[in-house]
Amino acid sequence: MTTNQKPRVLSGIQPSGSLHIGNYFGMMKHMINWQEKSDLFCFIVNLHALTTVFEAETLAKNTLDAVTDFLALGLDPEKSTFWVQGDVYQHTELTWILHNMTSMGLLERCHAYKEKVAKGLTPNHGLFAYPVLMAADIILYQANLVPVGKDQKQHVEVARDIAGSFNFTYGDTFVLPEPLIDDNVATIPGLDGQKMSKSYKNTIEIFLEKDELKKRVMSIVTDTRGVNEVKDPDNCNLFALYKLFANDEQTAVMRDRYLTPGLKYVEAKKELLEIIWNYFEPQREKRAELVKDPDTIHDIMKAGAAKARAVAEVTMEDVRRRVGLIY
Ligand code: ADP
Ligand code: TRP
Repeated sequence: MTTNQKPRVLSGIQPSGSLHIGNYFGMMKHMINWQEKSDLFCFIVNLHALTTVFEAETLAKNTLDAVTDFLALGLDPEKSTFWVQGDVYQHTELTWILHNMTSMGLLERCHAYKEKVAKGLTPNHGLFAYPVLMAADIILYQANLVPVGKDQKQHVEVARDIAGSFNFTYGDTFVLPEPLIDDNVATIPGLDGQKMSKSYKNTIEIFLEKDELKKRVMSIVTDTRGVNEVKDPDNCNLFALYKLFANDEQTAVMRDRYLTPGLKYVEAKKELLEIIWNYFEPQREKRAELVKDPDTIHDIMKAGAAKARAVAEVTMEDVRRRVGLIY
């Protein structure tokens, strides 16, 4: 625990494409809530994105967009430490040191890596070493809790193993982090009913123009039940998405409509469109203000990086001394 007795909660998100409502309900919203009850460290992992994004302009744009989205959605840089990973060189410095505490076998066992290779991707070393950079991200800040999706749990366990090896070799240095998996965080379905994911091209981005949003919502795949048939709200991705945005009363009304003949899916889609549009209205306005002033965004990120660096440097001074880099 940190001195103010709030747990240090840390997590990051890759700027590998426009952020979507799966990212929002699965990660960003929770991080924004954490700023009220923890010592929150939140960052955009542009160094990790280098493993898959090979166009400089795309990476730079996605990074700025991710920062802007987070700020617009309510992440408060006064209540948290919010920065871009690549702005704090201590991440890469610690990574190199940690490589030497990491067995090949540990990385070879990582599911995320194995899955990518199984899908036919020819891995580069960055992709193989991805969990070591992630370990550095976490233990550099002595984080207690790391909220992640189920797919990232193993990577946090790897971070814990690497921290443990370092502590064993050089003496107690790092806090052992724990993954925080919220079982209540449902997997948000995409347009086709699979997990919403950039890789499946089935996303609804958070900040689309209304006509684009309409196109996405209208393309949500539903079953073939006709108007006069009773429908199944519990096995319908349209309903699952509706529930995220509607209040309890609206959800109950929609559920009844599903269970009563007469509902046209297209009507439910039109309502979903409006409800999503209204849900993000205040944030959209805030975003529109922010994008007018990129200098301010850059200033915020510069201050965020300075705040992160100050914490990271305390760890690194200790680490350099322990491993013998100070002579
Ligand atoms: P993508 O699958 O689009 O590439 P990422 O893997 O970069 O998304 O996920 C970033 C964060 O958003 C993670 O914390 C992940 O758990 C969360 N997330 C992504 N998609 C979903 C989803 N469909 N449902 C719930 N959470 C999600
Ligand atoms: N690997 C994580 C993902 O793809 C992103 C990430 C990088 C991260 N460093 C982290 C998450 C540190 C938590 C803590 O979602």
